[in-house]
Amino acid sequence: MDRNRPGKLRFAGAFALVCVAAFSNTAFADTAKPAVLAATCANCHGAGGVSPGSMPSIDKLDAGALSSKLKGFRAGELEATVMTRIAKGYTDAEIDALGQYFSSLSR
Ligand code: HEC
Repeated sequence: MDRNRPGKLRFAGAFALVCVAAFSNTAFADTAKPAVLAATCANCHGAGGVSPGSMPSIDKLDAGALSSKLKGFRAGELEATVMTRIAKGYTDAEIDALGQYFSSLSR
């Protein structure tokens, strides 16, 4: 009976390390901030970019298309009622992160 214990403990320890590594790399560093930024967009574009009403859905745009639209709005090159003002609140890095975030949801 007791001969099995060290092996089990070692396995549990290794498993815990893998969990900590996976959690700290993906859950926090990569997804937490874009998800927070994207929460604002849900007010108009719906949860996950799927619009329930007359606003355009933004879940089907790929990362490049979404960020170039936002940069176009921000620069005043694309016609918009509200998006120019909204896009002006974001840096290039934040816009790219939003593009990555929404495109990762649709796949
Ligand atoms: C106040 C409501 C509102 C909020 C908040 C909002 N949008 Fe928009 N969005 C619009 C409207 C309305 C349009 C259509 C263009 C216009 O009239 O400004 C649009 C258009 C877009 C488009 C172009 C869609 C297409 O298919 O051409 C993208 C991309 C977009 N929004 C992304 C975002 C992102 C990302 C956020 C969050 C940072 C966001 N929007 C927040 C209302 C909003």
